[in-house]
Amino acid sequence: MLASYPRPFPAFCCRWGRGIAVAAARAEEGGRQKGSRRRGEDGGRADRPRGALGCAGETEYSDRRTQFFSQHRKMVITMERTKLAPFDCAKELFAALPKGVLLTTKAGDKVNSMVIGWGTLGIEWQTPVFIAFVREHRYTREMLDKNPEFTVNVPVGAYDKKIIGVCGGKSGRNLDKVQAAGLTLVEPEVVSVPAVREFPLTLECRVVYRQQQDLAALTPKLKDACYPQDVDSSNVGANRDAHIAYYGEIVSAYLLK
Ligand SMILES: Cc1cc2nc3c(=O)[nH]c(=O)nc-3n(C[C@H](O)[C@H](O)[C@H](O)COP(=O)(O)O)c2cc1C
Repeated sequence: MLASYPRPFPAFCCRWGRGIAVAAARAEEGGRQKGSRRRGEDGGRADRPRGALGCAGETEYSDRRTQFFSQHRKMVITMERTKLAPFDCAKELFAALPKGVLLTTKAGDKVNSMVIGWGTLGIEWQTPVFIAFVREHRYTREMLDKNPEFTVNVPVGAYDKKIIGVCGGKSGRNLDKVQAAGLTLVEPEVVSVPAVREFPLTLECRVVYRQQQDLAALTPKLKDACYPQDVDSSNVGANRDAHIAYYGEIVSAYLLK
């Protein structure tokens, strides 16, 4: 499906051509552009005018990028990207999910990636959504409570399997998994959470709905298979906990070049 790309970069997309040096310099200045507004950690930007696919206007976009760099200038890079429609990644996403893709979150200065093997792509409320299923005990759940935005990062081609081992086997509660897994964070387009160079196919999502799943409504067979109650939930591999479904509106999709 991706073979049909690259498409011409759409005119409404923000300008990626400007270098990291410019953004970093602005961050050093601490300069916010006139007329722009600071966005809270809750990811709320409902009061901001946005263009197609949620791209902010140039002034606001530059401001958001400056803020992002001021927090992460040592660890985030800028990359060119090929813009995609929300569902263009479906084939690659569903091929990759069984082995694991990344769900990346950010709260304050902390960025954390966890492996997910379950996920749904679809439409609800006339809105393209990716639904992630995160068990209650995960550190990622805490991150999403603080900042309800995430990126989904899908591998394309070969990648270091250590990434899956670290991000799927250890909790970010007591480890910097970005560093431990050797991930390179890439400046996002619309949300506050970065993309990941090593897993370049990206969905940027903003949570529009969350729902705790009701295990009593599940068939006994699936309940026993997926939620054995004899496993300690304090372990990283805890699987006693029910999942919370996070419905993320897909506000941007692209392939990092
Ligand atoms: C292949 C694979 C798929 C996984 N899928 C999910 C999933 O869909 N939902 C979930 O809650 N945990 C899943 N996990 C487990 C989490 O990735 C793991 O518990 C991780 O350490 C949680 O990180 P955190 O505590 O930093 O959030 C999966 C792990 C692997 C290896």
